[in-house]
Amino acid sequence: METNQNTRDGRNKSLWQQNTETIGEKNVFDPTITYDVLIVGAGITGLTTAFLLQKAGLQCIIAEAHNPGYGTTGGTTAHINTFADTTFAEVESAFSAEAATQFAESIAESVQLIHELVETCHIDCDFAWKKAYVYSQNKKETGELDDIFESAVRVGVEVSETKAVPINLEFQKAIVFDHNAQFHPLKYIRGLQNHFYNLGGVLLENTLIDDIKSVGGTHMASAASVQIKAKKVIYATHIPPGVVNVLHFRNAPYRSYVIAATLEKDQYPDALVYDMQEPYHYFRTHTIDGQKYLVAGGHDHKTGHSDPEQAFTDLINYAKLCYPIKDIFTQWSAQYYVPADGLPYIGQLPGASDGIYTATGFNGNGMILGTVSAMVLSDLILQGESEYENLYDPARIKPVAGFSEIVKEGADVVARFIGDRFGLEKIESVSQLQPDSGEIVEFEGQKLAIYKDSFDQVKALDPVCTHSKCIVHWNNSEKSWDCPCHGARFDTDGKVMTGPAREDLRVVDIQVPSDPYFFL
Ligand code: FES
Repeated sequence: METNQNTRDGRNKSLWQQNTETIGEKNVFDPTITYDVLIVGAGITGLTTAFLLQKAGLQCIIAEAHNPGYGTTGGTTAHINTFADTTFAEVESAFSAEAATQFAESIAESVQLIHELVETCHIDCDFAWKKAYVYSQNKKETGELDDIFESAVRVGVEVSETKAVPINLEFQKAIVFDHNAQFHPLKYIRGLQNHFYNLGGVLLENTLIDDIKSVGGTHMASAASVQIKAKKVIYATHIPPGVVNVLHFRNAPYRSYVIAATLEKDQYPDALVYDMQEPYHYFRTHTIDGQKYLVAGGHDHKTGHSDPEQAFTDLINYAKLCYPIKDIFTQWSAQYYVPADGLPYIGQLPGASDGIYTATGFNGNGMILGTVSAMVLSDLILQGESEYENLYDPARIKPVAGFSEIVKEGADVVARFIGDRFGLEKIESVSQLQPDSGEIVEFEGQKLAIYKDSFDQVKALDPVCTHSKCIVHWNNSEKSWDCPCHGARFDTDGKVMTGPAREDLRVVDIQVPSDPYFFL
């Protein structure tokens, strides 16, 4: 079995990528058989689902476009909570009291399932139970905290008021949830992958599924070098890829920023800690190779809508108010999808052939809701039903506050208008561009995505997103082109890193100026 470095959908290395390797492919793919289930994507959702189905006796295959954990699982902060970004009070109000209780129950089951898999499969992933503190700092936040507390009590989640929070800040009120947890996400999914292999499962890396045709209840998935036949397909790709789907308009892409820092004094919180700001900040500690790190996150914003470098600066400044930061060991950002009505979409993919499933809209709770997805999807496939299928039905229509805004954002389509050849000597702003950075330039009313590498070589791309024609934005932190509409992301060569786009950005043929000092 080969081992390789974990890669991620961004230039910055997450804490989890330090000293961890992927385990490569193992069991051999057989193109002549029809697999029971094809799972597209090897993050926590895909690997947990594949493991549960393979363990139940089905023959599964995972097709991963890059390496396991390449997407948000490699960039999460891996909080395992008994509560979620969408509060139980919000679910009560948008859905019903029963829905809120079901939401809480499914989350509690997912926490138990993670723990059970760690124990029974002996997964060495630094799993540890922790208390989770949430605190307010003004009257408005305290009112919201009271709602969180009271609704958590109503749905049966263990929570209590507390007078102490492990943070150097004044607060007005605080609550604490018991039996929350944390782990190392890449070690966890590597453990699942090993057990999936031991059960005979197949995983193909570097296999981007670009088309699925369904005939007579069988699905034929095509990638560049393989064709895979399967009775069922699960898109565990964070957002279903391909042509515009209704779910692309019911989920808004956001980015969250994270630092891993050492402290001057041993004041690392032995807990998960959250404030109530908008967006909120979150903290925890993780030890790697004997070194403790404060893992601090926050300053989330809609993908492609704010300056990522400013977000890091603001996060570091805020973290310094809360803990005695010594050094920033690493910093990174990751993407998540905010669902229009607050709940994830898990089940049959709307508009697709029967037997094609999806799981998306996890908000900032990917570890637990990815695991909830695995529970729901494996039940749907193994038993034909799940106690949570109605709650998470992707076809539900729930027009609640925020929905129209997300739809409007999603429909923010910019018509493309671009020629084929440009003389760069006419695009003056490129000469001002710093090495290893990019920008959208306009030339005679037409747009180009220009990237200048560290050797001053310039690459030009058509900035029109191949998913649904929005204009991509430059992300100077992760060195990527990010689409503000549905969250597709592309590297500096225009290659797809994050769906829903399946096609790369088009390379535009540019005339490089003869003056070698032009870009200096
Ligand atoms: Fe949909 Fe870009 S237009 S992700």
